[in-house]
Amino acid sequence: MEAIMKSMITDKNLYRQKAKELVAQMTLSEKAGLCSGSDCWNLKELERLGLPSITMMDGPHGLRKQIGVTDNLGIGDSVPSVCFPTASALACSFDRELACSVGRAMGEECVQEEVAVILGPGVNQKRSPLCGRNFEYFSEDPILSGELAASMIQGIQSTGTGASLKHFAVNNQEKRRMSVNAVVDERTLRETYLRAFEIAVKKGKPYTVMCSYNRLNGTYCSENKYLMTDILREEWGFDGVVVSDWGAVHDRVLGIKAGLDIEMPGNQGFNDRKLVAAIVKTGPSKGHLSQTTENQKPSLEGLSPTTENQKLSLEDLNRAAERVSELILRSMSEKKTDGGCDLEKHHQLAIRAAEQSSVLLKNDENLLPGNKNQKAAVIGAFAKTPRYQGAGSSKINPIKIETPWDAFMESGLNAEYSPGYSLLWNKSKGSFLKQTQIKEGANKRSKENTFRQSEQDAFIQNACAAAAGKDIVYLFAGLPEGYESEGFDRTDMHLPEEQNRLIEAVSACNPNVVVILMGGAPMELPWIGKVKSVLLAYLGGEGVGKAVVNLLLGIEVPCGKLAETWPLKLEDCPSYHYFPGGRLTVEHRESIYVGYRYYEKAERPVLFPFGHGLSYVDFTYSNLETDRKTCRFGEMLNLTFSVTNQGNRAARETVLIFAVHENEVVFLPKKELKEFVKIHLNPGETKQISIALDTAVFGYYNTLIKDWYAPSGTYQILIGPSSKGCPLTAEIHMRSPNLPQPDLRQRAPSYYRLPKNEMIIPTQEFEALYGRTLPIGDNRVSRPYTMEHTIEDIRHTAIGKIMNWYADRLAREAARAEEGQEGMMAATFKEMPFFSIVASDEKIISERMMEGILDLLNGHNIRGLWKLLNKE
Ligand code: BGC
Repeated sequence: MEAIMKSMITDKNLYRQKAKELVAQMTLSEKAGLCSGSDCWNLKELERLGLPSITMMDGPHGLRKQIGVTDNLGIGDSVPSVCFPTASALACSFDRELACSVGRAMGEECVQEEVAVILGPGVNQKRSPLCGRNFEYFSEDPILSGELAASMIQGIQSTGTGASLKHFAVNNQEKRRMSVNAVVDERTLRETYLRAFEIAVKKGKPYTVMCSYNRLNGTYCSENKYLMTDILREEWGFDGVVVSDWGAVHDRVLGIKAGLDIEMPGNQGFNDRKLVAAIVKTGPSKGHLSQTTENQKPSLEGLSPTTENQKLSLEDLNRAAERVSELILRSMSEKKTDGGCDLEKHHQLAIRAAEQSSVLLKNDENLLPGNKNQKAAVIGAFAKTPRYQGAGSSKINPIKIETPWDAFMESGLNAEYSPGYSLLWNKSKGSFLKQTQIKEGANKRSKENTFRQSEQDAFIQNACAAAAGKDIVYLFAGLPEGYESEGFDRTDMHLPEEQNRLIEAVSACNPNVVVILMGGAPMELPWIGKVKSVLLAYLGGEGVGKAVVNLLLGIEVPCGKLAETWPLKLEDCPSYHYFPGGRLTVEHRESIYVGYRYYEKAERPVLFPFGHGLSYVDFTYSNLETDRKTCRFGEMLNLTFSVTNQGNRAARETVLIFAVHENEVVFLPKKELKEFVKIHLNPGETKQISIALDTAVFGYYNTLIKDWYAPSGTYQILIGPSSKGCPLTAEIHMRSPNLPQPDLRQRAPSYYRLPKNEMIIPTQEFEALYGRTLPIGDNRVSRPYTMEHTIEDIRHTAIGKIMNWYADRLAREAARAEEGQEGMMAATFKEMPFFSIVASDEKIISERMMEGILDLLNGHNIRGLWKLLNKE
């Protein structure tokens, strides 16, 4: 291992050296050109210097290599590849090795398809269950997210394929994701929103990191030096490439200066020319400038930098070009797969991953496992058309889909099927679509509702007839595709009403109902007391059908545990009052109280706690010992304890290790996950587990010393199967230097004693935590309109109405090509800032034309018309 690491370091130094040499030979425009794509997925080739074009493709739970038409919204066709469980499912496995194997399989597919970098994994924090993209993110706990992402990156990169850790940072919502300003205090940022990135960067060492669309504390992430240089590179030691999210570049010059190396997709030269122009004015080195070819000069006219901001040093551009060249050199030489790419093997891995990621939420009277000799009813359209992945840029064209119904039939189960509901009823539920539908008129809607009601009644009657008299009922339910997607957030946590009615009705005709839930994020389950068992599959990838049937029939034993709390209702969520924020800002007032860190401290009951997950066997925990009673902050602590499988089947168990500390001066959650381990135990077996725990993870981020800090005192260690049940406890005494700590007891008392009912934090308290005046979260939209505004912002103007109508039309057309994508398309078009529309295709709308439109909107009609008529 050491030898491999050493050779990697030498290789890295060689690439770096070679990259420097190559960049020294490049002209200015070659350097600028290398720092953006040639199209949606490829970098430019530099034939003269022997640098090929390399390809970057989505990610993150399988390869989506597009063919023909290219778009980054999951619409165009892509080559078949294996669709693994999405991150919200895989996280429930709590299994680093599994995440690594999935990463390796994706890497092998990339090698086969000549893809140099796969765009994933995503480690954004699950702040609210409503975020439309939660299915792509791992957990509400940053340590779990970071560890699993690091393992996945190691797996991907073991094949020589680069990973792209995304979306850096604080991109926890889809609503106005391209412009919203996330307002987060420093401590929360470090402990909650950056922590998973930090772990994944330090342990996974991704080739690339993708910056997000949004702003953080006032600055676009694509030009945020604090994030991309000060923290990512200087503090965490990242030495790879930062690539923009697709269309996230706002000001290219500021971006390069801040540490953003690659702009994607390509800008057709628009921003490359700006980079060259920024240097032309100030460039110190005549040597380099003299390499600019004659025919570049005309294109620089009119682009001269006018402000200090728009001046770029050659050093900054060289640095970016060197990093990109190094990435290309690395990608050319590191490809390796032992034994090629066996898609069938990957498909089997997808089944195994789904088995280990599904969570048995409830199992009264041990209704499960069922067996194939029972007379069964299988109800719900998802049994034949399972939901197994999410919509948007991650959408994969799977090699084959295992449906639950086919798997039941293969098992020999004697079952009757009834669809229970139609998937056609809920194709789209995106917020923008709802607005459109409202306009369609109340009459039409009420006619549709009456018709739908009677259709539903018939479906329910049929389902009840199938369920009556059966030994067991397997009822498949969950979120239809139109309910959650990249591009928009959910507005509630409800299942479709017809599914709730169906479950209530069926459980009234048969007491033995098992609900199998599919969907990317928590749902409210009003019928939970009426069914005996619930198995949660999340979005389990293409193997989901086989996997759930193996679990339902007891061929496999469930071992997944929830990587996020399931609240009883949306209003209980700590971010409820602050998500998704206003037009300009989203304040993260709940601070570090995300997920169980909030529910436990606020003593708020939940539907299922973090770490909850049942098995078909029982485990007992015993004999916790620590190798010492006192230690210094940052030293290793050795823990040993035993776990016994009390059942008569082999099974896996996830052990969670939490730490608790009471600090009078600083507010802290009740407990926090510090480590986890997955073990396999044979029937009756006891295993002694030894863990070396790094006490550096015991600290909180102390803003006064700008570092992690765990003050002296007693720390309790809790070990057990979930956040709600920790049978083993031990205490250690930490010794630390006595350093100042931020004391907000007087100025922000709510963070110490959380509000009993709703999580409402007064402005002055959040301001005290934030440490400055809050930016104005302006909801009004008025003149002057700028490049930062969106079609949605101007929808009340005449021009805005036309643009809105056109965006709806485009969304509908796109949705014809790809079902369930209309909501996402509409949101994307309408929430894209104008600067981003220009950068995405200058041929369709140039910067000058857009300026003309803005002039018209701002009442400068003659100037606006002039610009529109004289586009060049
Ligand atoms: C998404 C990224 C994705 C990229 C390329 C963006 O819209 O936010 O996650 O990798 O498109 O498809």
